[in-house]
Amino acid sequence: MIYNNCNSYLIFCVLYSVFTYDDLSYNKTASQSRRVAWPFSDVSNAKNAVDRNALSCTKAQYIGLNSPDKTLWWKVDLGGVYNIYSVNIIFKNYKGYESRQRGRFAGFSLYVSSTGYIPGSTLCYKDGPELPPLNFTTTCIESGRYVIFYNERLKDIIYPEGYKTLNVSTELCEFIVKGCSSPGVYGNNCDKRCPNNCKDSTCHIQNGTCFACKSGRTGEICNRECVIGWYGENCNRRCAGHCKDGTTCNHVTGQCNEGCDTGWTGFMCDKACQPGNYGKNCSRACSPNCKTCRHKDILCSCKAGWMGDNCTTECIGSYGENCQYPCSVHCINQTCDRFNGNCLCDGKYDNQRNFERTDLPTHPLWMVAFFVSLIIHIIFISATLMSRRKTFLKQKSTTVDKSEISRTSVSNTEQNTSTNTASNYQELQISKNENNYQTLHQE
Ligand SMILES: *[C@@H]1O[C@H](CO)[C@@H](O)[C@H](O)[C@H]1NC(C)=O
Ligand SMILES: *[C@@H]1O[C@H](CO)[C@@H](O)[C@H](O)[C@H]1NC(C)=O
Ligand SMILES: *[C@@H]1O[C@H](CO)[C@@H](O)[C@H](O)[C@H]1NC(C)=O
Ligand SMILES: *[C@@H]1O[C@H](CO)[C@@H](O)[C@H](O)[C@H]1NC(C)=O
Repeated sequence: MIYNNCNSYLIFCVLYSVFTYDDLSYNKTASQSRRVAWPFSDVSNAKNAVDRNALSCTKAQYIGLNSPDKTLWWKVDLGGVYNIYSVNIIFKNYKGYESRQRGRFAGFSLYVSSTGYIPGSTLCYKDGPELPPLNFTTTCIESGRYVIFYNERLKDIIYPEGYKTLNVSTELCEFIVKGCSSPGVYGNNCDKRCPNNCKDSTCHIQNGTCFACKSGRTGEICNRECVIGWYGENCNRRCAGHCKDGTTCNHVTGQCNEGCDTGWTGFMCDKACQPGNYGKNCSRACSPNCKTCRHKDILCSCKAGWMGDNCTTECIGSYGENCQYPCSVHCINQTCDRFNGNCLCDGKYDNQRNFERTDLPTHPLWMVAFFVSLIIHIIFISATLMSRRKTFLKQKSTTVDKSEISRTSVSNTEQNTSTNTASNYQELQISKNENNYQTLHQE
């Protein structure tokens, strides 16, 4: 694998690749899944694989068909994110048992990770089906902080020819990760800067291509911004807000650079103004006579008694919300209270009503109307009573002055009553006359 990038000058390349990149794992922190207890305790330290002494090796617990454990891992923490070129592993050898050892190590995987855990990491090598050499090297062009060795012997899996399924362990004598020991550089001599917009300043150690871009960037060397309407890591988030004048959102944050469009607010400009507010940043309140106003433009729906774009014009000859109802034709001059449509007695009334409207909306008018009608009724009733009394007094005389009776009349009803009364008295008078005749006759 190490020869992948070296086609013609093989010898030169081997030397170059193996010897120029830095040893990133030497003396770094290492750990493994479970150490084998005595008698292997002296050789079970995970760090034996990074001491550069090939005679001291690690040993984890056995895995295999006879063992309770079925998986194992070993990992080194490089101490930071680096551009990696290769991994070289020296496995434990026992004289005369080379093929058994190769069968035990067979099938392992190498992961590069930024967190130290296999989920979310990048697989850079998977062994098989051939058995690995005990001095094993692979290119592993990645960037990361952790390199993880992993192996398993699971039940019910048929492994390739030569794989051992009993007493499998790590037995790593050396684990050498090669790459550039300065962060953010690449090239055979680790002397070129990775492109500015590569994520974590890491890039392909040989040609400088970014593995991933910083938020809001795209392209092989991340030299392009996200296309309009998109933002964020991998440019895979869609702008959600309503930016000023319909502009696109910030390609990194998704926010609006120039602020929100009128009628919109919130961190991401994705919230409409509250009812009653409008305009830039929803900072303007709708005019006082608006019942509701649209958050985008100030278009009002007016409270009762008002009309016009800003609800500043009073209703004339009409009433209600937006002056939508015409006053009744039965009102004098077809004018009415512009809030509730009641007919008005005179202009003064209207003014008084406007003045009082704010705190005492309807009661005074009702009370005034009630008292006026009460007084009128009292006058009518007393007039009636007086007229009856007058007539009764006149009954005592023999002549009835009809014109006098009609003079006391105030209304039609009253007149009727008076007329009735008059005719009654006429009848009485006639009978009285008859009586007189009778009396005369008798005499
Ligand atoms: C290895 O690292 C340890 C700390 O982790 C340090 O004390 C020691 O000096 C280092 N050894 C070498 C040879 O750099
Ligand atoms: C492993 O192989 C490489 C090249 O083939 C060689 O340079 C290195 O010395 C070997 N390591 C061991 C421990 O034999
Ligand atoms: C596996 O290890 C156990 C305990 O060390 C040993 O008894 C057994 O013989 C080993 N099996 C093989 C196939 O090496
Ligand atoms: C760099 O190498 C990678 C992997 O071989 C390849 O996918 C990419 O296109 C290369 N980039 C350039 C600029 O050559």
